[in-house]
This record gives sequence, C-alpha cells and structure tokens, in this order.
Amino acid sequence: MFRIDRNLTADELDKALRADVAEGLTARPKQLPPKWFYDERGSELFEDITRLPEYYPTRAERSILEARADEIAEAAGSVALIELGSGAGVKTRLLLDAMRRQGDLARFVPVDVSGEFLAASARPVADDYPGLDVHAVVGDFERHLGLLPVSEDGRQTLAVLGSTIGNQEPGPRASFLRDIHDVLHPGDCLLLGADLVKDPARLVAAYDDPGGVTAAFDRNVLSVINQRLGGDFDPAAYDHLAVWNAECEWIEMRLRARSAQHVRVADLDLEVDFAEGEQMRTEISAKFRREGLTAELDAAGFDLTRWWTDDAGDFALTLATVR
Ligand code: AVJ
Repeated sequence: MFRIDRNLTADELDKALRADVAEGLTARPKQLPPKWFYDERGSELFEDITRLPEYYPTRAERSILEARADEIAEAAGSVALIELGSGAGVKTRLLLDAMRRQGDLARFVPVDVSGEFLAASARPVADDYPGLDVHAVVGDFERHLGLLPVSEDGRQTLAVLGSTIGNQEPGPRASFLRDIHDVLHPGDCLLLGADLVKDPARLVAAYDDPGGVTAAFDRNVLSVINQRLGGDFDPAAYDHLAVWNAECEWIEMRLRARSAQHVRVADLDLEVDFAEGEQMRTEISAKFRREGLTAELDAAGFDLTRWWTDDAGDFALTLATVR
C-alpha cells in the first residue's frame, strides 16, 4: 500500500532556496545551508562519499544496524516507523525487517523534501513489504513536523539516521529535538544516529578525501545556485576546505575563493564579491559525546534508554523515549 502526502510544493521549495541564498551570500562571513547540496548530482556525489574509505559514518551506522536491529526493534516495540530524511535504502530495510520480525509494524512513514526521490525510493518498499502501509510525506522536517501522520494505535518510532542532526547548530538542534518530542506521545521512541568525537585527523580526512569527491560535492552547491537561480559562479575557482572546530566540536566545510570573484545571481538580482582567499561556510557536521547527547535529549524531554556503537566506537545509535 503506497500513498504520498505533499506538504511542500516546488514553488515553496524555490522560495526557501532564494531566501537562504540571498541571506547567506550577503551575510558576513558568507555562508550557505547544507540542505541545498542535494540536487540529483549532489545526491549522487553524496552516495559516492558514503563509499569512500575515509568516510566511515555510513558503514559504521550500517554495521550497528546489522548487529542490533532486532534489539532495537524489541526495545522500540512500535506499530509505525517514521524516518526523517529518509534513505529508504539498506539501513531502513534492516530496521523494517527487524520490526516486522518483532511483530507489530503496520506503517512506514518516510519523509523527504523531494517527492521524486520518495516516489522512487519508497514505492519499492511498499512492493517488497506486502501489507505494510507506506505513507510517504513530502516536507521539510524543520518546518512540517506538525503535519506528520501520527499513530494513535500504538507506539511509534521516529528515526533520524546518518548523523543528519549534525548539520544543525546547537540552538536549532534543540528546537528540532523539541519539535520531534512534541509530535510524539509519551513512550514513543526516537532512534538517533550520531557521529562521535574522535581523532581530528580522521575527521578531517572523512571530509576532505584525496580523490576530491567531497570537494566536488561541496562545489556542487554553487552549480545548484547557477542552475536554479541563474547564478554565474565558477565552481572551479573555489578550493574545498574541511576544518575541525575544536571548540564547537564540529567539522566545517568551506569554499575558499582562489582569486577575487565577482558573482551575479540573476534571479535574485544580486551581485556579490569574494575577496581573494575569502571563505564561505557551506556545512557544519557536529560530532557528539554520550554525556552531551544525553543532556540534549533530556532537555528536549527524552530519556536516553539505549546506546549502541560500532566496534571501533566511531558512531552511535541511540534510542530515546518520550517522557
Ligand atoms: C549527510 C549531513 C550526515 O555531515 O557527514 C558528507 C554530509 N558532508 N560529507 C555529514 C556530508 C560531507 C553528511 N550528512
């Protein structure tokens, strides 16, 4: 069974892109939010990143799911799985399989900003899991959580995998966790994937691979602006940087202008200048510690009930329960 709710039109998404780009390119220092990396090319490049030897998070999280999916399903005991920023890929299926074995799973709610992506990724789930109610929702999960179909017929688990929460700064992250708390009921679960603090050299390598895949991913945001907003960025004129911010405990990706650049974004009627060497932040990827995450979850109204890591201790999957 497959259906799709659309809470976000292409027009609204366009408006959000325009507002973010206009604001980010006129800010000092300039910055762009990472969510605009993911056009078709950007999503392909991210897939390539997940296969890089240096980029351990995807493999680490998958290995936890491979080892622990039944334990997770048992502890979660849910009739519904809601997945924000849904991959609907291997990791999702490991969870769905375990939740089905465990017994009560009736519904899967994948949420993504791209309807095309959901149609392509979630419809096959409906075909492969007969009897499962696959209720896809097109929406921006920072804005449309209130529109999610919530279960009144039993416990539900909301999953945010892949350390997606690492993209947010602490303030917005706290609001996001609170918003999740508010759409769930007491006893419901949050399954959260979080990349952990580790040797900065490994972190930097994971975000600056020698083959330049991450660099191409980073520069792709400029191509997105060119294509969607009539920009004339020369992506090749920017170097990719990955910097460990030890104080904030996050990786910053930045683009640095190799020489002075004058850029016009026609659809925004905007002209911006980059000085030679000027840096623009394009992403943060926060890394977590158990104590810190426990406190953040607690502040949002969750009890951290389970904590699993991969063998190397690189990545954590946590199950938190709504108080
Ligand atoms: C998909 C946001 C979790 O922060 O590790 C990978 C994106 N950026 N390499 C991350 C990303 C550069 C990724 N997230």
